[in-house]
Amino acid sequence: MTLQTPAPAPALVLQSERPQDGPLVDALVDRAFGPGRFTKVSERVREFATFAPELSMCAWSHDAKTGERLLGCARMWRVRVGGTPVTFLGPFAVEQGERNAGFGARLIARACEAAQAAGESHVLLVGDEPYFSRVGFTRAAGRHVVMPSPVDQRRVLVRALKPDAGELAGPVEPA
Ligand SMILES: CC(C)(COP(=O)(O)OP(=O)(O)OC[C@H]1O[C@@H](n2cnc3c(N)ncnc32)[C@H](O)[C@@H]1OP(=O)(O)O)[C@@H](O)C(=O)NCCC(=O)NCCS
Repeated sequence: MTLQTPAPAPALVLQSERPQDGPLVDALVDRAFGPGRFTKVSERVREFATFAPELSMCAWSHDAKTGERLLGCARMWRVRVGGTPVTFLGPFAVEQGERNAGFGARLIARACEAAQAAGESHVLLVGDEPYFSRVGFTRAAGRHVVMPSPVDQRRVLVRALKPDAGELAGPVEPA
């Protein structure tokens, strides 16, 4: 009887977005969101926000057979809300065939850790509360965070990174 050794699971590496990753990240985001992505309120924010590649995370699988493959991404940006420096998260996507394995939650955790290590006080995003409440986000209080275009306020979510971070209030503006 021959015993078959199962192939080892591909190693997952989470690391900050490098300049050369940009085209692959853009392609992954296009596949995940389709052409509608540019109509999102988050895109209005990104038009004036400052990209923070050092806080943005990419998930790569390293496999002897298939080589390096991008599985997911979480981009981060710098903005201000009522004068307070804030990190804005998005787009956030995991490749279709790789979902529901916890990669998304790991990407969010690592991006938030990087922001915290950089001294940031809050991460803000526009997204689905049922998902993001599982990774530490809650609704921004009241209607105090004013996005640059109309938005369902229930989708404006924030995660504080410091115990004394306080509540965000005011318009989302350039950093
Ligand atoms: C959202 C996304 C990044 C999650 O990636 P992932 O690696 O599958 O996430 P995780 O493995 O950490 O979590 C999977 C769980 O979240 C749930 N989930 C995924 N998207 C959800 C959503 N929009 N709302 C509520 N739950 C959601 C899954 O059903 C799964 O639930 P289970 O653990 O009970 O089975 C991925 O589904 C994706 O790329 N979607 C398309 C792009 C998108 O919508 N991005 C988010 C913008 S708000």
